[in-house]
This record gives sequence, C-alpha cells and structure tokens, in this order.
Amino acid sequence: MSGYYRRDPDELREEGSGGLSLSGPRNPVPDAKLVELKPLGYPIREPGMGKEVVVDSYEAFNAYAREQWLGEIVKEGMILFDTGIVHSYAFKVVRVVPSGAGRVTASTKFVLRLRSEEDRMEVPRLTLDDVVGHAEVKRACRLLVEYLRNPEELSEWAPRTVLFHGPTGTGKTRTAKAVAGEAKVPLLRINAAELLGKYVGEASERIRRAFKRARESAPCVLFVDEIDALGLDRRYQELRGDVVESVNSLLTNLDRLKERSEGVLFIAATNHPDLLDPALKNRFEYELEFRPPDREEREELVRYYAKRLPLPLKVDPAYIAARTSGMSHREIKERVLKRALLEALRDGADAIEKEHVRRALREEGGDRRGRQVYHG
Ligand SMILES: Nc1ncnc2c1ncn2[C@@H]1O[C@H](COP(=O)(O)OP(=O)(O)OP(=O)(O)O)[C@@H](O)[C@H]1O
Ligand SMILES: [Mg+2]
Repeated sequence: MSGYYRRDPDELREEGSGGLSLSGPRNPVPDAKLVELKPLGYPIREPGMGKEVVVDSYEAFNAYAREQWLGEIVKEGMILFDTGIVHSYAFKVVRVVPSGAGRVTASTKFVLRLRSEEDRMEVPRLTLDDVVGHAEVKRACRLLVEYLRNPEELSEWAPRTVLFHGPTGTGKTRTAKAVAGEAKVPLLRINAAELLGKYVGEASERIRRAFKRARESAPCVLFVDEIDALGLDRRYQELRGDVVESVNSLLTNLDRLKERSEGVLFIAATNHPDLLDPALKNRFEYELEFRPPDREEREELVRYYAKRLPLPLKVDPAYIAARTSGMSHREIKERVLKRALLEALRDGADAIEKEHVRRALREEGGDRRGRQVYHG
C-alpha cells in the first residue's frame, strides 16, 4: 500500500496523465513540483527496531520516492507509507509546492525534513557576562546589542553583518547566543554544514526561508554556524552542483538585508576565514577574532565554571590556569574541569581536589602530545 489517499482508477483514466491537463476544469489537482516529507517512524514497531531513516543519496531517494508514489495525489498533512525498503515506514507530507496538494509526477522533487533540523527560534538565556574574556569582542558586541534593541536609531549605519572567526572551542557559537540573549531577541541558528549535508538541492531554498523567517521575527539574530562549509568545501563542490547556487542565494539575501533596516543581525562563524569565498567575505562589515584564552582569561574561566560545577572546586584557579597554556576554552572546560569532576565522582569525593585536577591534566597532556605528532 502506498498513500492512504488512493485514487479511483476511473479518475485516472479520465484525467489522462502529465501536466497538460493542469488547467482543465476536470482536473483541479496540479502537478506537485516539490514534496517535503517528514519521517515519522513506524506505526508500530518491535523494541530494537530503529526509528530514524538514513539517506545516503538524495538522487537515489528521489528516484525511489517517485517510483513508488507516482501518480499519487499528495496533500499537506497526509501520511505516506513506504512500500519498499523500509516497509510501512511512515512519512508525513509537510509541504507540497505549488499549492498544498498535487500529483506526483516523474519530475516531482522529494525533500526530507530531518528531525534534528527543525529550526528553533528562541531567546537564549546566556548574556555577554557568560562569555569569559574576549574583552574586545564583547565591546564590539555591545554595539550589536544596541542595534538590536533600537534597530531604527542607526538606520543605514547599523551593523548588520558580522563574521566571528577563530580556532575551534573559543566561544564563537556561545557569543552569538549571548548577543541575542543580551538583547533579549530570538536567535535563528542554521548550520551551513548540515544544510549542505542533508538538504541536497534545497539548500538555497532553505537559506531564502531562513532570511524570510528572520525578517518576520525581527529584531533577531540570524546565525549561520560553520559558514565555510558553504563558501569553500571542495568536497561539496565536487559532489554537488548546488553549492554555487547556495552561495549565490546567501549573497543575494545578504545584500537585501544590508539595503534595508530590518532589525536582523546576521552573524556567521568560521574556523577558516581565509578560505571563505572572497565575495562572501567581502559582505561582512565587521570581523571579530576569537583567540585562545591568555593566562588571566583561563583563570577567569576556571572561576566562572567553578561556580557552576556540581561539586566544589578546592583548587586554586591560578594553578589550573598556569597548566593549561595553549588550550581553548572548550578544552579547559571539557578536558580539564569535566574530567577532574568525573575523577572526583569516581573517587566518591565530595569536592574536586588537586589530585583530581592533576589526573585530568596528565590525561590531557598525553592527548596533546599525541595530537601534536598527528598534526606534524
Ligand atoms: N569565552 C567563554 N566563556 C565561557 N565558556 C566558553 C567560552 N568559550 C567557549 N566556552 C565553552 O566552550 C565550549 C565551546 O564553545 P563554542 O561552541 O562557543 O566554541 P566555537 O568557537 O563555536 O567552536 P567551533 O569553532 O568548534 O564551533 C562551550 O561549551 C562553551 O560554552
Ligand atoms: Mg561553534
């Protein structure tokens, strides 16, 4: 069985096939150009059967979907069942372009909306005080917050496009959230790598939608994480024809954003600013650099997290700061503090003592030597 909406065979005969009959009064159902499906899972399953589907090739998925649902009339809200590989797996039809309902033809494009990807838009709870160190970056960010609070005030001089760059784990994502949180506006976050990885053929459409959604929710922050995936990744360029289209879509939307005072702040983050498409890089009015923490910042970072750890930290933050030179914020948080906490918990201790920190650092020391060799 395919869709639960089954057509009468007579209806089929009368209507004929193909798009020619589109405007005829006997055929009010247009051809579906694009059908977006959301995987729901099985109506019933045995424990142990996975719920998620994995698609390796969207081209193949399209051919597969068309073949089994060809001629079917699909409508937003209805449920389609897979008849092939993942038998009885249910998909909900979430969108049918152009008009909410349509017939699947040989040229209908299918798109999957994966669960993890549904855009969430909320006001983050972090504020700039939750970003430790980065004094210069935060100074610039206070301006951005001002703009978000009073988008009209600066009109065409308002900052609209900002690039955060710097090594991994230095707080770019955290700071983008903090800017929105500080201004008390929602953050719409899209990840460029995920966008390209999962939405083959629809990335540019999703970019357009993200900008539209941002405009509708203004003032807000539109945050594109790992933007280099869009601007540069050779793997994608070779594998996929839509990278250029996606970059162009981004450029067009950015230009539009800059022409008008719409209260949307566009922040993008990357670890590789030098590899970005030059046209893209040029669009940014500000570039803010995130550096690994210096000794003072490391000490401050330890103090900040000490207040949030579930066990008291009975170690001088200066001791940890002195032994974590070269580490990123993330490494200090996750590889030192978190590990020390786990060591303490493993010992059944009621506080994190120097010994636990030492063990965490020793482990990390081993790791770091390994990584240096790896990187040559
Ligand atoms: N300045 C900071 N103050 C407090 N916590 C921080 C800071 N920077 C990073 N962290 C913490 O370290 C972790 C990594 O930070 P984040 O994800 O923001 O880094 P990033 O620069 O976006 O890294 P990537 O380039 O890998 O995406 C998070 O848990 C974050 O909360
Ligand atoms: Mg990040």
